Amino acid sequence: MDHFAERDGVLFAEEVPLPAIAEAVGTPFYCYAAATIRRHVRVFRQALRGLPDPLIAFAVKANPNRSVLAILAAEGCGADVVSYGELRRALAAGIPAARIIFSGVGKTEAEMAGALEAGIYQINAESLEELSLLSRVAVGLGRQAPVALRVNPDVDAGTNPKIATGRSEAKFGIPADRVPEAWRLAESLPGLQPLGLAIHIGSQLSSLAPLEAAFRRLGALIAELRGLGARVERVDLGGGLGIPYDPALPPPPHPEAYGALVRRLCAGWGVALAFEPGRLIVGNAGILVCRVVLVKEGATRRFVVLDAAMNDLIRPTLYGVYHDIRAVRPRPGRMVATFVGPVCETGDTFAEDRETTPLAAGDLVALMTAGAYGATMASTYNSRPLVAEVLVDGDRWAVVRPRQTVEELIAQDRLAPWLAAPPAAPQPPAAWDDRAGPDSRVAEAEPLADGGGAAAPAARGRLIPLR
Ligand code: LLP
Repeated sequence: MDHFAERDGVLFAEEVPLPAIAEAVGTPFYCYAAATIRRHVRVFRQALRGLPDPLIAFAVKANPNRSVLAILAAEGCGADVVSYGELRRALAAGIPAARIIFSGVGKTEAEMAGALEAGIYQINAESLEELSLLSRVAVGLGRQAPVALRVNPDVDAGTNPKIATGRSEAKFGIPADRVPEAWRLAESLPGLQPLGLAIHIGSQLSSLAPLEAAFRRLGALIAELRGLGARVERVDLGGGLGIPYDPALPPPPHPEAYGALVRRLCAGWGVALAFEPGRLIVGNAGILVCRVVLVKEGATRRFVVLDAAMNDLIRPTLYGVYHDIRAVRPRPGRMVATFVGPVCETGDTFAEDRETTPLAAGDLVALMTAGAYGATMASTYNSRPLVAEVLVDGDRWAVVRPRQTVEELIAQDRLAPWLAAPPAAPQPPAAWDDRAGPDSRVAEAEPLADGGGAAAPAARGRLIPLR
């Protein structure tokens, strides 16, 4: 469910016609619908009813825009962060430290210190090695680190292998059979307060079965740990619930079914539960609006060349995944086209041989379901500035990240000091000096201005780049 709908033949974001935004900010731009974000949080919270005060820690990596995070803060969400940058963004947007979880396999000592100093809810440790590091940092700061152990349950999430994290060969988490050992280590190390377990098996899950297997594994571990005298008070069930991208495919499990699964398997654990949804909250709340540069008739297929490219939305290139493409002002009829960007790679393709309404140069087009892992994964490849981000809220809208300018892009580079000296006065090559003195140099240069003359062509050829 989203708030991008057609009215009188024009695609709107909530109450705002997209052409009006395009007119004001240019293209491409990301457009987020606040109503969709709020709705998804509420649907998820409602699905978790009956569970005592679950913490919904939004996975900031999905969309770190400050306005998006501010909406989520106002909805009472926490944050799941995986870098110091994300931690700072979450705090800056008003998400209380007491609702922030820090995940990730490679937290640096500086990041650990930043998290401890901020007083966050929990650090999810992903290895025994990390526990030792965290202990050292906590002791150095004179603090106790609230720790959950991220378990690798060796479950195949059944999703795209690049975003599956729950198999034993993946870099994530502590192997389930080493968790008791890790818990004992955490208990024995100074500065660590082991409080619970965490899990996250992958993203864009299209079935609840892998989650069920992982949750059962977790339940067994909790019982085992408690049998050993451990006080397991918290469990973080991660994120991963899929969302519909392709309207032709059956939708992934509804949050209601997910909530029912959690109630059935986890309610009896007697722990405080946390969740880390990302895509589910923001995926359908965002689109990438761009313009058709031209429609090119290729040798074997027709290309719709957009002004957005793989650097703006990398998901189709990186994962080969589907994004629905809609004309902002659809015309009657159908056509088939391959949608590409202007970047110099064949991989810069959004959709191959896609059936669409007829499109022509200048038309506005929306790449749907781009609110998660869209703008946040963008780059400036091909020296294409980062695009604008716009938030719509009812009939209001605002630019929540201005379009980067080419000047800003260039200004971010620094010239190495030895390259920064003012250009030296043109020096003729030594051979040329030998052949003629300074006066004849000028005399030879002059004919160039009027397009030729008596000067030797070889000399002219050297003088041109030197001027
Ligand atoms: N928690 C942890 C520890 C995670 O690693 C992730 C996502 C989440 C929560 C949120 O998962 P979600 O609810 O959004 O599925 N760039 C990829 C997705 C990468 C997901 C990485 N981890 C994509 O565009 O599909």
